[in-house]
Amino acid sequence: MRVLVTGARGMLGSELMPFLAARHEVSGTDIHELDLRDLAATRDRVQCFSPNVIVHCAAMTKVDACEEDPDAAYAVNALATRNVALCSAELGASLVYISTDFVFDGTKQEPYNEYDMVSPVSVYGRSKLAGERYVRQFCPKSFILRTAWLYGKNGWNFVDWVISTMKDKGHLSIVTDQKGSPTWTFDLCRQIETLFMSDRFGLYHASGLGAVTRFDWTQKILTMAGIDKGSLQPITSEQLPQKAKRPANSCLDLMALRLEGLCVMRPWEHSLEDYIKSKE
Ligand SMILES: NC(=O)c1ccc[n+]([C@@H]2O[C@H](COP(=O)([O-])OP(=O)(O)OC[C@H]3O[C@@H](n4cnc5c(N)ncnc54)[C@H](OP(=O)(O)O)[C@@H]3O)[C@@H](O)[C@H]2O)c1
Repeated sequence: MRVLVTGARGMLGSELMPFLAARHEVSGTDIHELDLRDLAATRDRVQCFSPNVIVHCAAMTKVDACEEDPDAAYAVNALATRNVALCSAELGASLVYISTDFVFDGTKQEPYNEYDMVSPVSVYGRSKLAGERYVRQFCPKSFILRTAWLYGKNGWNFVDWVISTMKDKGHLSIVTDQKGSPTWTFDLCRQIETLFMSDRFGLYHASGLGAVTRFDWTQKILTMAGIDKGSLQPITSEQLPQKAKRPANSCLDLMALRLEGLCVMRPWEHSLEDYIKSKE
């Protein structure tokens, strides 16, 4: 397959590139080369490489920055995604759009499946949802993958931050009232390939299996990394001033992958263990 990866220098895209290159002809693009907000330039780039599949990882991902600058968030997460969807459709290529658990408001007590109502509580969530809608509107051969709480070797992430902060400062305050599904980029790369090699287009949740609060996740990270967690302090979201609201519960149920028999995601603890071992 000829695969074009957007956001190729980001945390997910930079892991996806070499992962796919072992079996596919891969080309990557990022903001230094092409601004996806420019439809004509995006069309040129897509037509020039002529991919069978586009994996669209590029996004404005800083949740608080999106809240501060909604125009910037919608320009990238919604309109640039529309551009990619249009160009995929014009070429007959299939499109994998990476979306987010933040499309939910977090009021449900159980994990969210693909058939639950969306109701984002932040600009980031609303702009990514607008991207989903453009993908559905313009690109019939599309996979929308909602993932969550991503960490991986190539970008700033919560796991590395917890380990380095505890080592450097010996103290951390972490919220107990946010629950989610941590996801290792390596697992997500495998899931993305499994899906685009199929023709089961549609909406999928793709995160680590299971759920955990941010505080319990931190405890697990420190235990697995062999770091003393004596001065880890539980706090609530109210005690942590952040520009954008986060959903209290954004755990994902991978119902569609399960029903299609296409799930390769693993329990989040197993992946975390492998990730921490891979860093030793
Ligand atoms: N990280 C998470 O916890 C998480 C959770 C759920 C879903 N997701 C989704 O997963 C995907 C990958 O996330 P990630 O953490 O790998 O993101 P990332 O590290 O922030 O990478 C995104 C890349 O897109 C680039 N980009 C931004 N605007 C662009 C534009 N106009 N044209 C071209 N490229 C542009 C960014 O460049 P700059 O860095 O220069 O802006 C960056 O290199 C995103 O769609 C995100 O919404 C992430």
